[in-house]
Amino acid sequence: MSSHSKPRQILVTSALPYANGSIHLGHMLEYIQTDIWVRFQKLRGNQCIYVCADDAHGSAIMLRAEKEGITSEQLIDNVKAEHTADFADFLVNFDNYHSTHSAENKYFSELIYERLKAAGHISTRSVTQYFDPEKEMFLADRFIKGTCPKCAAEDQYGDNCEKCGATYEPTELKDPRSAISGATPILKDSKHFFFRLQDFTDMLKEWTRSGALQDAVANKIAEWLNSGLQEWDISRDAPYFGFEIPGEPGKYFYVWLDAPIGYMASFKNLCERRPELSFDAFWSSDSEAELYHFIGKDIVNFHALFWPAMLEGANFRKPTGINVHGYLTVNGQKMSKSRGTFIKARTYLDHLSPEYLRYYYAAKLSRGVEDLDLSLDDFVQKVNSDLVGKVVNIASRCAGFIHKGNAGVMVAANPAPELTDAFIAAAPSIADAYEKRDFSRAMREIMGLADKANAYIADKAPWALNKVEGKQAEVQEICALGINLFRQLVIFLKPVLPKLAADAEAFLNVPALTWNSHNTLLADHQLNAFTPLLTRIEPAKIQAMVDASKEDLEAAATETAPAAVVGNGELTKEPIAAEIDFNTFAAVDLRVALIEKAEFVEGADKLLRLTLDIGDAKRNVFSGIKSAYPDPSKLEGKLTLYVANLAARKMKFGLSEGMVLAAGPGGDEIYLLSPDAGAKPGQRVK
Ligand code: 2FM
Ligand code: ZN
Repeated sequence: MSSHSKPRQILVTSALPYANGSIHLGHMLEYIQTDIWVRFQKLRGNQCIYVCADDAHGSAIMLRAEKEGITSEQLIDNVKAEHTADFADFLVNFDNYHSTHSAENKYFSELIYERLKAAGHISTRSVTQYFDPEKEMFLADRFIKGTCPKCAAEDQYGDNCEKCGATYEPTELKDPRSAISGATPILKDSKHFFFRLQDFTDMLKEWTRSGALQDAVANKIAEWLNSGLQEWDISRDAPYFGFEIPGEPGKYFYVWLDAPIGYMASFKNLCERRPELSFDAFWSSDSEAELYHFIGKDIVNFHALFWPAMLEGANFRKPTGINVHGYLTVNGQKMSKSRGTFIKARTYLDHLSPEYLRYYYAAKLSRGVEDLDLSLDDFVQKVNSDLVGKVVNIASRCAGFIHKGNAGVMVAANPAPELTDAFIAAAPSIADAYEKRDFSRAMREIMGLADKANAYIADKAPWALNKVEGKQAEVQEICALGINLFRQLVIFLKPVLPKLAADAEAFLNVPALTWNSHNTLLADHQLNAFTPLLTRIEPAKIQAMVDASKEDLEAAATETAPAAVVGNGELTKEPIAAEIDFNTFAAVDLRVALIEKAEFVEGADKLLRLTLDIGDAKRNVFSGIKSAYPDPSKLEGKLTLYVANLAARKMKFGLSEGMVLAAGPGGDEIYLLSPDAGAKPGQRVK
């Protein structure tokens, strides 16, 4: 913040993650990018508020809860706890993390809808859609499967074919069926509610060119604007997990209507705890506060068309900026479960420090919408060489001499003012890079300074000088300067590396550093003991993380696809697989097996190792049933059914020879199948 301007008031959001899945490293790109920007603003003394929430509504969440045998409310509570832990452990510092399934969000969704309706921006008409007669619900395109009308590939989704790439209407699919119940859907009419987006065309043409969007994004939007805007379907029929539309029983707001309103709701919820914050100061149509949404490029239409139009139509302020980033690739490719590069936030955290990834993302993020590649080799190399080799190294080289030679007191001397001046002079440019979200430039400039500091120390070689009679005072001056330069670097890196900064503040024995602290130097100052601030990444940890990501997949495959699904009321809802003839069935050699031994597998979250007695032989089988059998010894002595002629599979933990049969949706609901008592190991199931 320059000295003449007053502190800015800034409200910042990241996209609200769906409450039906885990956070992965692709999500983390956005939360880390936003968190760095917010921390930078706070460090500068601006009032910057960062809110987020879980995106809790929609049919996907409802159906997943049903599958797990819990209520939607239970599911979203569980997921919220998981999400908040992941974010906290990645040092993402929200001022508030709320849920779209909240009283505040209901209030604002209804208010905005009522205002839009009163102003004539809501219309209704009848829509014909596929309806699942068994499940009694309308089917979104992704819940309809069938045969592609173009290439005849089977088992394709309702709107596009993965085989030939064709896009079509669900009604064009051949042999359509519901992916939920397997039933043949029927066409049915229903009244839908629409938001008249086209009423806002002129406003949007102006707003999208007001500097709120990156050029590439504004250009894309201009294409949509020029081809004419259509009204937007904002209602869904019951059953739906969401908010009922006021005065319209059985009609619900579509999840994407109330999701962005969740930004407001989370902020409102925060205002209730923080009385100094005024909701109106941030959201009224004449607000002078700034409002930024960080999002990925896949959801630009919702944020740069629908959302500003809704805000305008309901007499609220519009965003100052929509900050769009590209996708994450890992090792140059789309994240892949089979390659182990679909890495969950928690799996990463089980193996590596969050600050490594924060730094790597910062070093690669620019203000553009290009995709960002997490190359795992480059990641190790860059973190080790920059953070450990350049930054932390300065402190570890200098601290020892000050502790041994001067009882930990930095002397008051500056033997190279041109160097400290250069560091101070670099601050405005680094700040400008942060402000513009050009973090890669900020990191480059900071590492350039670190190179200068290291060159200075290498040139002076205090370790050699210290052995020379009468040079000890000079050593103290060199090392005091080294620590001062280290301190400057820590200030500049603090938005990216908050934990390293806190540890450095403890070592430096100083109160929390702010951006302006870079203008001063420590002199005649007592240090605390130096403890290593960051250690090198061992490449073995990367391999372990990749292996664990593969293991997640193997366990999921064994868990969610038991060889046979036996019906309880819930499970018969899984569609019956394609018909097979008797010979195909007879080809499966099912045997009775006795579980001799059941044990945990070191390093595997979901697997148990079973030793089976199949009559004339023993078999080793890995089975993804640990979640249901926390005490595996209870399985020992049990009879079960075993697929004897399944090709053996090489897993990370060894060879898995066949498969035992279980039913159930997973988690603690996995039921191992057993024959009646009296069956003998090795007997064939017929
Ligand atoms: O794409 C998504 O993951 C959405 N859950 C993002 C919602 S952002 C906002 F509009 F709520
Ligand atoms: Zn096709």
